Amino acid sequence: MNILLVGSGAREHTIARAIKKSKHTNNLFCFASSNNPGIKSLCAGYEVGKISEPAAVLNFAQINKIDWAFIGPEAPLEAGVVDILDAVSIPSVGPIKQLAQLETSKSFTRDLLTKYNIPACPGYKFFTSMNGVKEFIESLGGNYVVKADGLMGGKGVKVSGDHLASIDEGISWCQELINSGKTFLIEEKLIGQEFSLMSWCDGEHLAHMPAVQDHTRAFVGDTGPNTGGMGTYSDGDHSLPFLTSADIDQARKINEATAKAIKNKFNENYKGILYGGFMATKDGVKLIEYNARLGDPETMNVLPILESDFIELCQSIIDGNLSQDKAIFSNLATVCKYAVPNGYPDEAVKNELINISAVTDSDHLYLASVDQKTDGLYETGSRTVAFVGIASTIAQAEQIAETEINKITGPLFHREDIGTTELINKRIEMMKELRNI
Ligand code: AMP
Ligand code: GLY
Repeated sequence: MNILLVGSGAREHTIARAIKKSKHTNNLFCFASSNNPGIKSLCAGYEVGKISEPAAVLNFAQINKIDWAFIGPEAPLEAGVVDILDAVSIPSVGPIKQLAQLETSKSFTRDLLTKYNIPACPGYKFFTSMNGVKEFIESLGGNYVVKADGLMGGKGVKVSGDHLASIDEGISWCQELINSGKTFLIEEKLIGQEFSLMSWCDGEHLAHMPAVQDHTRAFVGDTGPNTGGMGTYSDGDHSLPFLTSADIDQARKINEATAKAIKNKFNENYKGILYGGFMATKDGVKLIEYNARLGDPETMNVLPILESDFIELCQSIIDGNLSQDKAIFSNLATVCKYAVPNGYPDEAVKNELINISAVTDSDHLYLASVDQKTDGLYETGSRTVAFVGIASTIAQAEQIAETEINKITGPLFHREDIGTTELINKRIEMMKELRNI
């Protein structure tokens, strides 16, 4: 079996390991955006190219006689890589372009959920001009979020009180978006705790993964600029310490209803991952956004504790016979921490040597933005390496992750507080207060 993996970050390193762990013999081929030695060492073929150029991916797939593909990041989904592979009968785990709109267009997703009566959206309105912007922001009492439409590399969302200090600042930002030809959503600011609940989907059936909490702010105590995600944790019961079982149930139901809605709208099967980014609020679980791929770092929490055979799981998504018993996860807690370059995200140092050789458990170390040169391993200016600790409790998993990530040398930093009891207790207290407990 020849399998294609598109992408080359820590998420894809984790996917590559899961593929190689399968009992089914396979040759793995990676079409990568950078030279990741961790993935390369697992591959029969590895090429660095333009992963969002469908013709380039197709060419690599045909040369290597690929049977099926796993698409890691969102950009190739948006570019139509799955569509072009489909056209030559190479199936993918990853939705076709039209269905990937769940991630690539925030207004598409809000309108889909509203049309299908899925009660998970905050109040929102879509704008293509400044008409009514001031009135709508005022009607939300100044608690608002502005979301530029389309993939903006994490820079498309500004939250009042956080990035926008006043109603006037919000209006100026909207004017800037209009001036640069962009459309946007304004929506009610949700108050609560965020979590990710990803589900495998074959178009008809879903299989849910454990809930995970990410930490998007760069510095300890949830301060500093937004990042791609500095680290994540999950608990042995597949819930999170600040969630109720009703919250998990609600998030799963939202994913199930959304899968049904998108199938109904396009009569096409959504094959891949439905990644719900949720907020637990005092009024229940609300949807912040959908992603059409596995999360990074969330993948490092879930795939290492997958007990089921990963290739069999992927094949059931492709064949349309997915069920929860094909995606069984161990009852273990996980804490993942990313080491990132000093100055990350805005002024990250670039092309500096790092050393990972002191890490004891290299099986749980995942390489992200790195480049192997003859004299060693270099960081390339973004999230660099991730380590996931796995244990019976979050506290134990945190200790393991903290110890191991500290063994990596180079001009890097990480968040010492992710997964600590102190930080988690703050989340629990916040939710108790919101729920008046
Ligand atoms: P998104 O790209 O939609 O995930 O937004 C990025 C981040 O902005 C989220 O992870 C939240 O922290 C925040 N955010 C987005 N929408 C809302 C909302 N309606 N209320 C509060 N925070 C939000
Ligand atoms: N964990 C955030 C993301 O994957 O988009």
